[in-house]
Amino acid sequence: MKLTTILAALTLSAADVSGHYIFQQFSLGSKKFGVYEHIRKNTNYNSPVTSLSSNDLRCNVGGNSGASTTVLSVQAGESFTFFSDVAVYHQGPISLYMSKAPGSVNDYDGSGDWFKIYDWGPTFNGGQSSWPMRNSYQYTIPKCIKNGEYLLRIQQLGIHNPGSPPQFYISCAQVNVTGGGNASPSPTVKIPGAFKASDPGYVANIYNNFNSYTVPGPAVFNC
Ligand SMILES: *[C@@H]1O[C@H](CO)[C@@H](O)[C@H](O)[C@H]1NC(C)=O
Repeated sequence: MKLTTILAALTLSAADVSGHYIFQQFSLGSKKFGVYEHIRKNTNYNSPVTSLSSNDLRCNVGGNSGASTTVLSVQAGESFTFFSDVAVYHQGPISLYMSKAPGSVNDYDGSGDWFKIYDWGPTFNGGQSSWPMRNSYQYTIPKCIKNGEYLLRIQQLGIHNPGSPPQFYISCAQVNVTGGGNASPSPTVKIPGAFKASDPGYVANIYNNFNSYTVPGPAVFNC
């Protein structure tokens, strides 16, 4: 084998070992877009964010700016899906958040108010849990929110290693909502800040007499 081939093989297997997953595709209704189309491109391959105080918690490492990401026009009430490259395989909750940009979402760093629109949690069976680990998560744009440009954020929190820092897998899509209403969603949180090291849903031991769970972050906003 040539040295370059060996190096390429080593690099590949190193990536496999540290391999996780990344939410890198989006669909609206039945229209599926390309990889990173309308989704801010991260620069940390498929690695998680583990610091609760990092701005990377907003839209992942490299997702601070959306200058090179297109904005998708969506109708309030319309169905969308986030897809991961490989199915989620670390146990933990999945949540969807939105934050309205003060102007153009391309320029928005996610430092404003975030509200949560959905949580996927576990189901329990005699101290055991099962989690909705898949490669697609579908929901709808809330019907009542105001028109305008938003970050639409998916977060999966890997809590599979109790005692080690949980892992945040995050992506943000850029959407322009039309046909919406007049609601001011609440409660809202800032990111970072929304997640604390003492949150029960952050420190839960899923392997030990695990019978209930509270997904971290604010309550879900419903129209
Ligand atoms: C968002 O939609 C509004 C209303 O249709 C439009 O004026 C604006 O240009 C759109 N923004 C983007 C980035 O497409």
